[in-house]
Formats: sequence, structure tokens, C-alpha cells
Amino acid sequence: MNPKPVLLTYEIHGDGSPVIFLHGFPFNRHLWDELIPFISPHARMILPDLRGFGESPTSTDVFTMSLLADDVCHLMDHLNLPQAILVGHSMGGYIALTFAHQYPQRLAGLALIASHADPDSPARRESRYHTVAQIQKQGIQPLLEEMPQRLTPSPAVQEKVRLFIQSCSPQTAIQALLGMAEREDANPWLREIRVPVLVVTGSTDPLIDPTRIQTMLESLPTATWVELPGVGHMPMLEVPAELAGVLLNWIRQIQG
Ligand code: MLT
Repeated sequence: MNPKPVLLTYEIHGDGSPVIFLHGFPFNRHLWDELIPFISPHARMILPDLRGFGESPTSTDVFTMSLLADDVCHLMDHLNLPQAILVGHSMGGYIALTFAHQYPQRLAGLALIASHADPDSPARRESRYHTVAQIQKQGIQPLLEEMPQRLTPSPAVQEKVRLFIQSCSPQTAIQALLGMAEREDANPWLREIRVPVLVVTGSTDPLIDPTRIQTMLESLPTATWVELPGVGHMPMLEVPAELAGVLLNWIRQIQG
């Protein structure tokens, strides 16, 4: 049994079909700010801070993807939403996939942005534990040193990423890193998904292996895959108008 869900801090922009945007690690709800003018005239954007991030309450637990998915469901209950479309960036995508498995009847559509269904490889898990040990000694500094240039080639976007990292508490970073390290393989869950799926990747994202995306899509035969040329891990900061266009096209199809 998971620990109790917390009520996430959130913002809402626009009316109509609810679309919940789940940020990646170690960001917060403001990750999506540049998409608001494009999407909010056409859909109800719900932007939560995940547990421990931004202004949301925290707890002492490991932030498993299952626990973070429970928090999303709790927010939907709070907002009286029987169903919503989930858009997840990277770690937010891991949470959205877990939500699809745990709460299939509450899902109206699933968009994975720079995300995938694989668990950590043993090497990746080891490197997360190493980062946890570094954060325990030095605070958030190790993330500041290695993450921005790994996530995007654009110096301007790296600067934005740096500001997000600085606003993340070391304890939250540790709890989320441990949660990602122990996350389950979501591949067996893909064939259970009965709602429209959108997969968006950047062609130069070093965290995404296109051959693994191909494999994931074999289990999602009706999914739409859009690859953004020359884009890294942060399309919402690198090419917000383009990403918003892709999302809106897909949301409109669901709205029918
Ligand atoms: C993220 O952007 O959410 C993380 O970098 C994902 C990960 O570390 O696997």
C-alpha cells in the first residue's frame, strides 16, 4: 500500500477538456508556462507541482511513480474530474504511464514528451545512487554542474534549466531520484492502454533512444509519433510554439 496522497498545488488556465501537465525532474509547474498562451484558449490546462516540487506539500517517502500517480488521481478527485488527458514530460511521462496502469478508467488520452516506458538500466540506476550520494554531501550543486548541458544544446535554455534546478530542494531531488531508480518496467502495460496516445521526441535528445521508442510503438499501434528535428530533451523550452501546435492538433482530435 502506498502512503497517503497529498493535495498538489496547481494552476488552471482556460476552459473545456481537462489536460493535466506533469513536469519532469527536477522542474515544477512553471515548466509549461510558455505553452499557456497557445493551449489555454482551446483546453483547460491543469498545471500541478508534483509532490515536494515547487509549492506542493512534501513527505519523507521515496517518491515512487506509483505514489506520484496517486497524487494526480487525488487532484482529479479534488477537481471533480472523472477523466483527463495526461501530458507527461520525461519523469512526468513515467508517472503518466503508471497512472494509465493504475487508473485506466480515469484517462482520456496520454501524451509522452521526451519520455519512454523502460525502467532504469543497472548502470543508470547506479548513476542515480551516485548522484544521490553527491547531493547528500553537496546539495543541489552536482545537478547544476551536469544536467543543463546534457538536456539541451541551447545556452539560453540551459540557463532556464539552471534556474529550475536551483529552485528544487536537495531532499526532493533525492526522493525523486530514488523513485525513478526503482520504477517498474512500463512496457507490459502499454497494450492495456485504450485511449489515444501521442509520443513526442526531440531528434537530438541524448536521453531518448529512438530504437527503444520504435519498440514501445509496436505495443501502441494507434499511437502518433512526432519527432522534432534538432530538439533536445526540453521541447517546451526549446520550441514551445511547435510543441504546442503538435499537442493542440492531437487534443483537437480527441475532442472530436
Ligand atoms: C526528467 O527529465 O524528468 C529526467 O531527466 C528523467 C530521467 O532522469 O530519467
